[in-house]
Amino acid sequence: RRYLQNLGRVTLVLILTATGAFLYVTQAQNNPPDQLDADPTKPTLVVLGSGWGATSFLKSLDTDDFNVVVISPRNYFLFTPLLPSVTVGTLEPRSIIQPTRYITRHKKRKVSVYEAEAKEVDPTKKTVTFQDISDVKGAATDVTINYDYLVYAVGCENQTFGIKGVNEHACFLKELGDADKVRQKIMDCIETAAFKGQSEEEIDRLMHMVVVGGGPTGVEYAGELHDFLIDDLKKWYPEVADRLRITLIEALPNVLPAFSKQLIQYTESTFKENRIDVLTRTMVKDVKEKAVVVQDANKEIREIPYGLLVWATGNTSRQITRDLMGKLTQVQTQRRGLLVDDYLSLLGADGVYAVGDCTATSYAPTAQVASQQGIYLASVFHKLGQKAKLEQQLTQLRAQPSADPAEIEATVKKLNRAAKLTPFHYSHQGSLAYIGSEKAIADLPLFNGNVASGGGAAMLFWRSAYVSTLYSVRNRTMVLADWAKVRIFGRDVSRE
Ligand code: FAD
Ligand code: NAI
Repeated sequence: RRYLQNLGRVTLVLILTATGAFLYVTQAQNNPPDQLDADPTKPTLVVLGSGWGATSFLKSLDTDDFNVVVISPRNYFLFTPLLPSVTVGTLEPRSIIQPTRYITRHKKRKVSVYEAEAKEVDPTKKTVTFQDISDVKGAATDVTINYDYLVYAVGCENQTFGIKGVNEHACFLKELGDADKVRQKIMDCIETAAFKGQSEEEIDRLMHMVVVGGGPTGVEYAGELHDFLIDDLKKWYPEVADRLRITLIEALPNVLPAFSKQLIQYTESTFKENRIDVLTRTMVKDVKEKAVVVQDANKEIREIPYGLLVWATGNTSRQITRDLMGKLTQVQTQRRGLLVDDYLSLLGADGVYAVGDCTATSYAPTAQVASQQGIYLASVFHKLGQKAKLEQQLTQLRAQPSADPAEIEATVKKLNRAAKLTPFHYSHQGSLAYIGSEKAIADLPLFNGNVASGGGAAMLFWRSAYVSTLYSVRNRTMVLADWAKVRIFGRDVSRE
């Protein structure tokens, strides 16, 4: 009995301590302290973007040495790995975003944040021109500012390979608005299929969800869609749910080419069990309003009718990036993206650094790479800041006739250390993907090799890995609450 009483007391103390720590952390995060004002003697550092690269850079940056300006058309950071879960309502959109101002308000010196799209970078004049592209406009819409340093992290846009009809008829899965659009469209297709007097042929078309691209985006989305069908649609739309079909179209011989062979097989067999049709060696050639035109492995052309089409065939450079390359044609010779050196400095442009998907490096365009590059670049800027301070110190020392030579020598040594940079090194932490029916796949670099695992345990690992990497305590709380909500009440099938 005494043992139970003690256990109860210890549990109570633990719960109270955890609650206290939670309240303390959230209060501290919600009440940022006063910041230093901008200092006209410090260089201006402009950051383009608010995604993985820009945000990890900002989070690690010491703003003491720079006047920082952030320009991005979206005023938040989006946790893309959980975006497919938003398409079916497993997670709510706002659970996986964090306002950029929340990030910048916690910095030592004030950071200017502009919700705008950068339209042009002039690497010769060292200027950026940006535009307010939101619906509400004031008197100022187009502005050009100077930079001393520029961190270029604008990511990529959706690759369509110029295939006709993609932009008009397909949904993408890159931005938060895309996921919301997909969610609305799924429900629209189902409601329309359930409409009185709908023909059998039309029901089959409307209930056919087609995904183009068997990379991780397409696979994760197909998995989420399957869960929605099994867990919710069957309950609330019994008259049409059995007609729902999911087809994944992939041009290559298999899905997920970047994952290990056994996980590819595991995913394809799980999809088969879940009745997700995988059409490999099949290439979409044309997109019509209600059907995709494909060429299959036998080079035969046929049409596949669809209700909803999700297009996930990878990335291509943004217009602004192509324009920037066009200004540096001597050195920027890769169509895939911007070329940088080992220190992430843009080839051919003074004071410009580039990170993430907009670059063409030997690494895959992933959040892992972009965030590690952002952290690395913040350390480069820390050294730049130190270097500037030491140079100033040295100039002042040398101007004093009574200066101690030993002090000068020590400052020179410090300066040399600050000027010495180590190149960027990427450390791969593994690849994870959710494939539906509470299963995930994980390729993990362990014990000097690769450990591949698929199933329920990998799903628990996937969930805990992503919860721990979410931006804030707020995000973590909201994502955990969404998962609990779905378990208890199911997903919401109403349309907004
Ligand atoms: P982004 O994160 O795309 O950020 C680009 C930023 O630039 C955005 O804020 C954008 O608004 C802004 N911007 C755009 N144009 C302009 C402009 N003209 N001026 C100023 N700003 C501009 N990777 C993983 O490692 N693991 C995963 O599980 C994973 N899951 C993913 C799931 C999905 C659905 C998607 C789409 C991607 C996923 N990725 C994942 C890939 C990962 O999201 C990208 O590699 C990563 O976002 C790249 O970071 P970035 O900073 O280069 O670009
Ligand atoms: P992707 O480039 O990885 O895959 C696109 C797929 O579409 C390719 O397999 C390609 O063969 C196929 N394709 C292209 N054109 C086609 C056509 N006309 N018809 C049929 N198939 C066609 O793109 P994705 O999945 O959007 O990923 C982009 C990046 O983001 C990748 O680097 C990926 O690793 C990363 N990412 C990582 C995730 C994870 O680790 N869980 C999740 C999502 C994305």
